[in-house]
Amino acid sequence: MTEHIRITEVGLRDGLQNQPHPVSTDGKLELARALILAGVRQLETASFVHPKAVPQMADAAEITAGLPVDARMDYMALVPNLKGYERARAAGYRRVAVVLASTDTFNLRNIKMTRDEAEAACRDVLAAAKNDGVAVRAYVSGALACPYDGPTPVAVVQQLCERMIAAGAVDIAISDTIGAGNPRQIQQILTPLLREHDPALFSLHLHDTRGTALAMAWAGLECGVRHFDASVGGLGGCPFAPGATGNVATEDLVHLFHGAGFDTGIDLDRLYDAVAIAERITAQPLGGRYTQWRRSQERRAQATACAPQDNRA
Ligand code: COA
Ligand code: ZN
Repeated sequence: MTEHIRITEVGLRDGLQNQPHPVSTDGKLELARALILAGVRQLETASFVHPKAVPQMADAAEITAGLPVDARMDYMALVPNLKGYERARAAGYRRVAVVLASTDTFNLRNIKMTRDEAEAACRDVLAAAKNDGVAVRAYVSGALACPYDGPTPVAVVQQLCERMIAAGAVDIAISDTIGAGNPRQIQQILTPLLREHDPALFSLHLHDTRGTALAMAWAGLECGVRHFDASVGGLGGCPFAPGATGNVATEDLVHLFHGAGFDTGIDLDRLYDAVAIAERITAQPLGGRYTQWRRSQERRAQATACAPQDNRA
């Protein structure tokens, strides 16, 4: 039987939070529907953060209200604190994500808390969610490097992962927020963790800033991870991580895994169509390497079809 890989599509949150121009609520919902049509089942839809901190996420409740009601869908929203959690609960979420960055500097820039304060905020959400039967993902961000303080020691990442597991998180998203890592680091982080824990507890959230995301994903796969984040067309970045570009493009990851004989449940043709929608609603060129390749094939086919026929015998 073909082995399944879970892909959490994060473009609507991680991708859109960093747009220089506002994207309409209708545009976001059009993209969500296209992704669902393509077979995406794990979808991070928005974040319930302060609208002044990230104006692009101010319509989180409206987005949620407009999403298709579909029992197959696993919708998730990011919450930085209890207030965000309460807003997400009021909107109906059964899964939320908290954020714990690896250094004081990154936490302070991102959510105005030290690392200890951020951990306490995560614990508050985890405790409330346990009462409510809500599943919690913990993003351990800046896991390979902090945008301000440089490389993150492996022991620090492991400790943060362990603490979030002990506090009840069901999904630890080890996040290379600025795409500064390499496959060797992924092995070094995961190997001891997977000696102690079920691989199903972990996911990899890899930005492709320097082109290493696919290699790192593959390293994670070889360690036993079967859950990866990705962003349609490579959309995104982080407003609080200077220079960060988008997550690995969903189409590149899906293409890689399908080629290697895994199933993701995602239809690559329909995903390709969704990239064009993401481009239209954000008014910017997007697309991972797979998209670039498909487009070059289309241009070549068109040029051949339009070329004048040579009828000389
Ligand atoms: N959503 C909406 N409003 C919120 C909120 C939330 N999640 N958390 C706090 N607030 C409100 C408070 O109610 C308070 O309102 P008031 O002034 O009307 O009383 C105000 O914000 C200040 O509260 P405080 O707890 O002091 O927040 P802060 O100013 O220290 O900001 C965060 C902390 C976490 C809310 C803010 O930094 C934030 O939203 N950051 C998100 C960054 C992000 O999205 N990064 C990318 C994803 S990781
Ligand atoms: Zn990210």
